[in-house]
Amino acid sequence: MQTLAIETTCDETAACVLRDGRIISEAIFSQIALHRRYSGVVPELASRAHLEKINHVVRAALEGAGIKLPVGKRPPTGDTKPHGVPKKNKKIFDAVAFSRGPGLPGAILVGRVAAQTAARVFGAPLIGVNHLEGHLLACEFRKGRADARLKFPLAALIVSGGHTELWRAGGYGEYELLGRTRDDAAGEAFDKVARLLGLGYPGGPEVERLALKAGRKKPVFPRPFLDGGLDFSFSGLKTAVAYYLQDNPRPGPAAKAAVCAAFQEAVADTLAAKAALACRKSGLKYAAAGGGVSANSLLRERMAASCASEGASAVFSEKKYCADNAAMIALAAQRRLESGRRLKHRVEVDPDLKIESWGR
Ligand code: KG4
Ligand code: ZN
Repeated sequence: MQTLAIETTCDETAACVLRDGRIISEAIFSQIALHRRYSGVVPELASRAHLEKINHVVRAALEGAGIKLPVGKRPPTGDTKPHGVPKKNKKIFDAVAFSRGPGLPGAILVGRVAAQTAARVFGAPLIGVNHLEGHLLACEFRKGRADARLKFPLAALIVSGGHTELWRAGGYGEYELLGRTRDDAAGEAFDKVARLLGLGYPGGPEVERLALKAGRKKPVFPRPFLDGGLDFSFSGLKTAVAYYLQDNPRPGPAAKAAVCAAFQEAVADTLAAKAALACRKSGLKYAAAGGGVSANSLLRERMAASCASEGASAVFSEKKYCADNAAMIALAAQRRLESGRRLKHRVEVDPDLKIESWGR
């Protein structure tokens, strides 16, 4: 089974060819340099950059897999009728997949148009994938193959720049939302705290790097546990850091490192505790974390420990696949094709797409 996938929901333009769970070829263009000066993703710039790079990225992924973009016969001038797919183009791909949400509307639209075009060119069905589901399934990749099958049922913690959610996953395509952030996403909190400290963008890796340099003396920030339920809230924590910096202005490198370490601990503890609580409440023996923030080593350590204390084992994606990529989208499409279940005709762009189970 061979799938071409396209990912453009935020600031990475990515394409991947996946064959039977093996990554044959990937291409990615990161817009980080473009957005760095604004300390965050500027939606309009993101869409434009996707538009500029998408053809190049898709072509590079195809060429990496030894697939030449098929050139059909040129229709006679003035003839606008569709000419169908040349026979030799068919059967190359079982599907062309793209992230249909959640994400930035203009950015997703670029991926959608490119995927639809590729689907036409190759005569393959178009599949719209939930980006967050991709982050969960990315946990299956080891050394370029999706060999590390997830064990179900599990508690899924999805922690990215725009989302922080906990689901119960009963199997592939069987999802139930258990909790979500009521305000900022965990990644957003990392980015905002980094900005308060004058660090670079994206903030998560910068905060993690600096936290390693912290000494033993550091402030203590609140762990926002809310009412003991499975929802999250990170805006209060971010405000606590802002107040701390008001009271302790112009921090030097050591003071900044201490703030980073204290903030990171508060986030890691909160996420880890909620993942463990989800295991306990739903009687789950497995947990998995995906999304950019799941690259954080302290979070991995704390979550593995908290889940173990509930008798559950936690898995994570390889760090490279925590961030946005097209391989996870290709894999989600592949798992869906294998299951024989599809959300028929769900290929429209949905910037607020919620997690949903696949149709029967
Ligand atoms: O999943 P992702 O690549 O894109 C979205 O779908 O949003 O996540 C990006 C987020 C950013 O907020 C970034 O600061 C955060 O993930 N992040 C991290 C780390 N690496 C990336 N947060 C904490 N620790 C990290 N090592
Ligand atoms: Zn993402």
